[in-house]
Amino acid sequence: MSKLLISIAMEAEAAPLISALKLTPSTGLLPSALPFVSYEGDNMTLITSGKDAVTGVDNVGTIPAALSVSHALATGDYNTVVNCGTCGGFIKRGMSIGSVMIPTVGAFHDRRIVIPGTKFEEYGVGKREVTNAKAALVREELGYVGGCCTTGDSLDHVPTDDAQMEANEAVAKDMEFASIAQVCSLYGVDLVGVKVVTDLVDGDKPSFEEFMENLGTAAKSLQETIPKVIEVLAKK
Ligand code: ADE
Repeated sequence: MSKLLISIAMEAEAAPLISALKLTPSTGLLPSALPFVSYEGDNMTLITSGKDAVTGVDNVGTIPAALSVSHALATGDYNTVVNCGTCGGFIKRGMSIGSVMIPTVGAFHDRRIVIPGTKFEEYGVGKREVTNAKAALVREELGYVGGCCTTGDSLDHVPTDDAQMEANEAVAKDMEFASIAQVCSLYGVDLVGVKVVTDLVDGDKPSFEEFMENLGTAAKSLQETIPKVIEVLAKK
């Protein structure tokens, strides 16, 4: 039977949800050389990106996200991926701390490959529409906004990122979504992103300060939101 794969980068983001969904640690899904951690529940698997062996911190970012989701999809029979986690939000597109959004597009803002006369620039931005009916239903039934989740491998942003985020019409900024959108598109699996705002990209505080302040509240918000998302997905 087809199952749901929930992908969350950080342990702190996942912990309240793991207990709310009564998930238990599992082994054998992913190659043991990889640091990712998996949990099983009723017709669902949750994976986190685990810890970095050198620094001991969470493996955030696009490489662990793509690797973990790709390995899980290659191994198990999943028909939907839910990628949830925190994000920066854009005040100019209506976001505030604690807002939830369900992306309709994933795109990168830090892959600059400009070679005139080629499509490498477009390849770098790597835009993928996420317009499947499941994501649309979740957005509609739970009353969340859509828009672009722009992805890069940095928590902060430099002016060249800002220009591409604006070109992407970004509503949210994270470090995983666009890479997972590419993996899901390769496997032909539906993706539903659920992003909770911890910090304001176009606000006046450094991202890391607001992020650390609001991480706990955002994780609790995911604990409440994801079971509702699963309920909606069960109707499809
Ligand atoms: N996750 C939470 N806030 C973020 C931000 N500002 N940029 C990237 N990822 C984030």
